Amino acid sequence: MSVPGPAAPATPVRRESDSPEATEKLAERLAEALEAGDVLSLEGPLGAGKTRFVTGLARAFDPRAHVRSPTFTLVNEYAGRIPLFHVDLYRIEPGALEPLGLDELRERGVLAVEWGEKLPAHLADGALRIGFEIRSADSRTLTLQADAGRGLALLEACRAGVRAS
Ligand SMILES: Nc1ncnc2c1ncn2[C@@H]1O[C@H](COP(=O)(O)OP(=O)(O)OP(=O)(O)O)[C@@H](O)[C@H]1O
Ligand SMILES: [Mg+2]
Repeated sequence: MSVPGPAAPATPVRRESDSPEATEKLAERLAEALEAGDVLSLEGPLGAGKTRFVTGLARAFDPRAHVRSPTFTLVNEYAGRIPLFHVDLYRIEPGALEPLGLDELRERGVLAVEWGEKLPAHLADGALRIGFEIRSADSRTLTLQADAGRGLALLEACRAGVRAS
């Protein structure tokens, strides 16, 4: 008798971006599918386009949004259809996450987290992971992956509808 193993991992979704504006556009399309409680783990090297992606999210919720990197503030909030919390964990020590109150913020809105590799497991588990790779000065590859929960739902929404333009 065969014992069911773990579900096969969902196939990643890849998108190419050839400009900062194209990266923002990809984010704007994803924004349509977002709900309070969603976590986006933005992963990739310095200058890969994580903040530009969040700019697209914030503008989708509020076209007047002016997005600044939360490198020192650690969390910036943008108002809109749903509150958007832009988090940057670059400077955070693994043990120092608690004071940020990410669980409470997540109850109120969407978490978009730069350096999401540092998220604790309970937030990372249902996240949509978006990996950014630098191909050339203006070209980036975005790889979307998820293992569970809302992350998987968002991955499938992207597979169906989010296209590079
Ligand atoms: N296709 C592209 N998508 C996004 N950014 C691009 C693209 N092509 C060039 N760029 C440039 O790359 C830089 C990306 O900067 P951004 O601040 O978004 O990176 P980041 O991943 O947030 O870096 P950090 O880890 O330092 O916060 C910007 O200067 C942007 O103009
Ligand atoms: Mg950034």
